[in-house]
Amino acid sequence: MLYPSTVGMRPQRVAIIDFGGQYTHLIARRCRELGVYSEIVPFRTSLEEVFSGNYETLGIILSGGPRSVDEPDAPKLSAEDLSKVPVPVLGICYGHQLIARAFNGELERGTLMEYGRTSVRVIKRDVLFMDMPEQFIAWMSHMDSVVRSPFDFKVLALTERRAVAAMRHAERPIYGVQFHPEVKHTQMGNAILRRFLVDVCGFRCDWKPMDRVEEMSREIAATVPPNEYVVCAVSGGVDSVTTSVLLGRTLGERLYCIFVDHGLMRKGETEQVVSTLRRMGIVNLVFVKAADRFLLRLKGVKDPEEKRRIIGEEFAKVFEEEAAKIPKARWLAQGTIYPDRIESGFAGSGSALIKTHHNVAGLPAGLRLKLVEPLRDLYKDEVREVARKLGIPEEIVSRHPFPGPGLAVRIIGEVTEEKLRICREANAIVEEEFRRAGVYDKVWQAFAVVTDSSWTGVMGDVRAEGYVVVVRAVESEDGMTADWYRPDMDLLDRISKRIVNEVGNVTMVAYATTPKPPSTIEAC
Ligand code: XMP
Repeated sequence: MLYPSTVGMRPQRVAIIDFGGQYTHLIARRCRELGVYSEIVPFRTSLEEVFSGNYETLGIILSGGPRSVDEPDAPKLSAEDLSKVPVPVLGICYGHQLIARAFNGELERGTLMEYGRTSVRVIKRDVLFMDMPEQFIAWMSHMDSVVRSPFDFKVLALTERRAVAAMRHAERPIYGVQFHPEVKHTQMGNAILRRFLVDVCGFRCDWKPMDRVEEMSREIAATVPPNEYVVCAVSGGVDSVTTSVLLGRTLGERLYCIFVDHGLMRKGETEQVVSTLRRMGIVNLVFVKAADRFLLRLKGVKDPEEKRRIIGEEFAKVFEEEAAKIPKARWLAQGTIYPDRIESGFAGSGSALIKTHHNVAGLPAGLRLKLVEPLRDLYKDEVREVARKLGIPEEIVSRHPFPGPGLAVRIIGEVTEEKLRICREANAIVEEEFRRAGVYDKVWQAFAVVTDSSWTGVMGDVRAEGYVVVVRAVESEDGMTADWYRPDMDLLDRISKRIVNEVGNVTMVAYATTPKPPSTIEAC
């Protein structure tokens, strides 16, 4: 170990200082997968704040970012700032360049840039690269390069174009890497992160999401006073079901779960969720059949954003009406998870609105309720682990993500009863066939979209007009980017035949082969 760390009573964490990099959440997730609790901290946070609070911060990672260190308004870091940091530091990409700039290294813009898979050559076997091959493939994405390391730094590795791929301060535990160890394409990426966390920072690597169950239950008990009630919106997704079950264990009949059936759920989902919640001991379950209200408001609406807005608004209204019937309620529970809460990105960069994501459990504005969000620090995979520990059935735990506005985002153009029927049936077939083929868990999502187009068909020697249905399946780590899944042709054939034969009013099935970007995952 290069740096002494006091193993105190507070739980340990690594703080990831976010400079707006697209992989910041990925760095945080990798650390957690390695057993080290991580939190993302905006770059404007003061050093005192980083080191105060409930956690003992044993290491700092400086993330990547979209800016160039020498731009006047880009985030800066001085050697003096770094000298005040009492724990080891690892700069990744922009973080690496910031360290180089702080200690007077030489940077160049646009001369040695590299994107995608490139090879890195280790020239000094420091602790980060102990037992690693001399050459490995790493994921790079940089316009600026460190062409000469600062005077008091040692170069540990070079990029293909001979820029500094990794360096460390000669005496202090300050490291920089130009490549992204958090990206799966970087061979040895996890090993490098582990070396930093364990051998440099001294982490125990014993953090596990399911250990949080008792802690979260204690927190709920401490937050909600004994005579106060909580309302929770359940959508059927793993986040809201886990939130309900966690709260139900502690609060019993002081919890009211409200399930608004907007009529846009997957086949059989409503019944499954209601029976699961009952089985899991939720005593007060309010089930609201509101499909007619939603469909009426969606009549004639074609614009995707307008559909999303209406569903969000109507949901809030129904929820408010139901919650108002529980006068003792003082709290609103939400299944908010870490990426919903911590939006990584360069503050002020103003990314364009692609679509308004709506969580059915969104906070209705009119209710004056205090918020309780037990899953707020967890990533999706961690919520799944917690859910399993709580005994929530696997069909719910491992079910593909499903958007808050439901099947409405899988119907192009107006949502009519007929298109909704086709969409629900076709989605069920896609899910069933993916499960049968044993590839359901290999993909992030697999579903069917009903388009607004028709295709001329011939059914039983008679001309027929029917809808075009598009099947989409994607592989993804977090839904932010995705590649289309290459299915087995027999699987595709079975899905296609079944949709045409069993659903009715469909004359063509197509398969979507565009990744995200440029396409989003859902159709609208
Ligand atoms: P897009 O379509 O934006 O989707 O590429 C990325 C991921 O988010 C899900 N999604 C939603 N989830 N409310 C949600 O809770 C929404 O309004 C929503 N829209 C899309 C989508 O299924 C995919 O996993």
